[in-house]
Amino acid sequence: MNDIPSTPGKFKSTLYTPRFRFPRVTLYTLLFLTFVFFIHFFLSPPSTTAPRRGLRDSGWDNQVKGSAKTRSRDNHVVLVTGACGFVGAHAAASLKKRGDGVVGIDNFNNYYDVRLKKMRKLHLLDKNGVFVIDADINDVPILKKVFGLVRFTHVLHLAAQAGVRYAMVNPDSYIKSNIDGFVNLLEIVKSLNPQPAVVWASSSSVYGLNTKVPFSEKDRTDQPASLYAATKKAGEEIAHTYNHIYGLSITGLRFFTVYGPWGRPDMAYFFFTKDILKRRTISIFEGPEHATVARDFTYIDDIVKGCLSAIDTAKKSTGSGGKKKGEAQFRIINLGNTSPVSVNKLVSILEKLLKVKAKKKVVLMPRNGDVPFTHANISLARKELGYRPTTDLETGLKKFVKWYLDYYGGKKKSSY
Ligand SMILES: NC(=O)c1ccc[n+]([C@@H]2O[C@H](COP(=O)([O-])OP(=O)(O)OC[C@H]3O[C@@H](n4cnc5c(N)ncnc54)[C@H](O)[C@@H]3O)[C@@H](O)[C@H]2O)c1
Repeated sequence: MNDIPSTPGKFKSTLYTPRFRFPRVTLYTLLFLTFVFFIHFFLSPPSTTAPRRGLRDSGWDNQVKGSAKTRSRDNHVVLVTGACGFVGAHAAASLKKRGDGVVGIDNFNNYYDVRLKKMRKLHLLDKNGVFVIDADINDVPILKKVFGLVRFTHVLHLAAQAGVRYAMVNPDSYIKSNIDGFVNLLEIVKSLNPQPAVVWASSSSVYGLNTKVPFSEKDRTDQPASLYAATKKAGEEIAHTYNHIYGLSITGLRFFTVYGPWGRPDMAYFFFTKDILKRRTISIFEGPEHATVARDFTYIDDIVKGCLSAIDTAKKSTGSGGKKKGEAQFRIINLGNTSPVSVNKLVSILEKLLKVKAKKKVVLMPRNGDVPFTHANISLARKELGYRPTTDLETGLKKFVKWYLDYYGGKKKSSY
């Protein structure tokens, strides 16, 4: 008993001869635990988050700091998530062009053609000096590192698993990005000092089965028609919680069917263009009893203006280091175009621009998450953001088609 010191750490090596032997049970327990550790380490499935490539990259810190530099002291410093997505690339480029400091983050997932994301990076971001970190918003060490390097005034959160129909194929991806990822981001942002203001993309899909038109922010949003819509609605409630408990200033923007150059290949205007050019038959949806399907198509430049003005009008967060110090701004605002256009009209504009007659078949809209009609009331956006969309569908599609033909190989029809 005398050999065992009474106070841990106070060994006197001269007096203490280690005669201690492991009891047999402890030895077996240790061997067993080591075995379990190795089995877990080598056989567990790979993490679903992107590899932390960024932490090892040399020069990464300086590139982030350089990209975050503002033209003047009055400019904002913005972290844009989903920066190589359709809206993210346009928004990040516009912020940078006007003098804001901008850093992007994107996990380059393969929901659609990854080359398109890389080309947006090359043409819209690299060219304008926006550095993009290749990482997932669920990656805590990366996010902590980025927020440690740069004092962001705003976060423009656009990273999400988009698309309504894909939610029936891969529901998990919606939970991982739109719920887990959003909470992860807010957890880190709320604990900063000072806390940045957050502007993020919700969606018109939260109106779900609402039939009152035009859709106003005061209308009910408790009847989502898809898991995508449900995750966006959940995001709005989660945002409210972080505003309420931690004093984060949060603005949620409900985008209505955004289209334009560098757009998303999973959206109808995009794949109709491809199929019309390839002389393939396109399916035109109609609602029950031959009801017309229509969308409030909103041109990308109008959406970007809305995002920038949401950033400019965002009030400061009131909390610091995870503690609320007072009431903070909380907004939910529609960003649409206020003029729904039927799918038939969309196709006839494309036919005119592409100079090709579409082969069409009319089919009943399947019940897989789409809603028959969207129409935005934008009075609040006008009041809060001075938002005034200026591009009608024909003008916007003209720009899209020009981009599409350039991007997919000029006039060579085989490469469309
Ligand atoms: N385009 C529209 O019509 C529309 C309509 C309503 C709402 N929205 C919302 O606007 C935002 C931008 O949409 P978009 O059309 O640019 O979509 P997008 O798919 O082109 O862009 C999203 C980007 O986020 C990235 N991303 C996804 N999950 C991520 C994660 N976990 N970590 C890091 N990056 C991740 C993707 O790689 C992609 O580049 C999304 O939140 C979307 O839900 C878009």
